[in-house]
Amino acid sequence: MKAITINRYGSIDVLEYSEIQEPKITPNQLLVKIHATSVNPVDWKIRQGQLQLLSGFNFPIVLGCDLSGVVLEVGEKVENFEPGDEIYTFVNPLSGGAYAEYIAVPANTAALKPKNMNYCQAAAVPVAGLTAFQALLDLGQIRPGKKVLINGASGGVGTFAVQIAKAMKAEVIGVCSSKNITLIESLGVNRVIDYNHVDFTKESEQYDIIFDAVGKESFLTSENVLKSEGVYISTLPTVENLPSTFFTLFMPGKKSKLILAQPNPHDLISLRELIEDGLVKSVIDRTYKLAEIAEAHAYSEMGHAVGKIVITNEEISLVE
Ligand SMILES: NC(=O)c1ccc[n+]([C@@H]2O[C@H](COP(=O)([O-])OP(=O)(O)OC[C@H]3O[C@@H](n4cnc5c(N)ncnc54)[C@H](OP(=O)(O)O)[C@@H]3O)[C@@H](O)[C@H]2O)c1
Repeated sequence: MKAITINRYGSIDVLEYSEIQEPKITPNQLLVKIHATSVNPVDWKIRQGQLQLLSGFNFPIVLGCDLSGVVLEVGEKVENFEPGDEIYTFVNPLSGGAYAEYIAVPANTAALKPKNMNYCQAAAVPVAGLTAFQALLDLGQIRPGKKVLINGASGGVGTFAVQIAKAMKAEVIGVCSSKNITLIESLGVNRVIDYNHVDFTKESEQYDIIFDAVGKESFLTSENVLKSEGVYISTLPTVENLPSTFFTLFMPGKKSKLILAQPNPHDLISLRELIEDGLVKSVIDRTYKLAEIAEAHAYSEMGHAVGKIVITNEEISLVE
């Protein structure tokens, strides 16, 4: 099958469009024909070798974690899926495998894809959507009326976070640059802060939840604008955030938390319901073919994607 592999860490030049063996499933897995995947920053961080202590040196590595596609085969112990099911999920980015035609995934991490999404729209959801969902619901304990600030509202995680927070009936403030204000307003925010002109950490307004979807601030820089029982949640385990995450665990008052998204089928089903109810949609910036992955990584690495970058397998129609 066709897949994007790397045989060493490095720039986009290490990405190879290769022919590799199709995966075989174990009794608890599904064999999925991947129709679409997406680029997440973790994909190119792994490619660059930033996580090589975790991703190891067992080359070739097939990158990619998000996927939507069709179940071709089910393992003998799998009861809740059958061939022909249209699913979406993500796999551990460190083991990867989604930049390919086929993948074997644990059945207990997948869910049927939303009926009102095509494969490209569905492949945009799992990593970014679950990161936002689990950060806001599990770590933030979001409730109606809570005042929630989303920093990086225009990115892959941020666009889902804004919509999920609105769906939870929170008061949502989105932080983005001037060029993305119209988009963020269209997602239903109560107010936009343009980071080109205003530093939200220096304002007097305080929040119940600050979700730093792009990890550009820290608990310490945001502490003054958190309410007394407020929660700061970051997507990045930075040297600034790790100590505060540890210490605030044992202290009363403001908390610092880190999200590490998990491919939980219950959350995928909850997200599917929000999507099918028309409360959440995928914002897609660009779509590339699998063979154009280098271009897609280069674009993502610039750090200015608006929503998600989706990768489609060549023979699949973009609107299928
Ligand atoms: N821990 C986890 O489980 C987890 C899961 C998913 C992602 N992540 C991490 O979360 C981060 C974000 O992921 P993503 O997929 O959302 O990335 P992304 O889509 O590439 O983010 C790009 C967006 O960030 C915005 N941005 C850049 N600098 C900003 C700033 N100073 N203030 C506010 N917005 C800014 C950009 O807007 P402008 O062009 O207007 O600047 C752009 O729209 C990545 O580092 C990723 O690795 C972690």
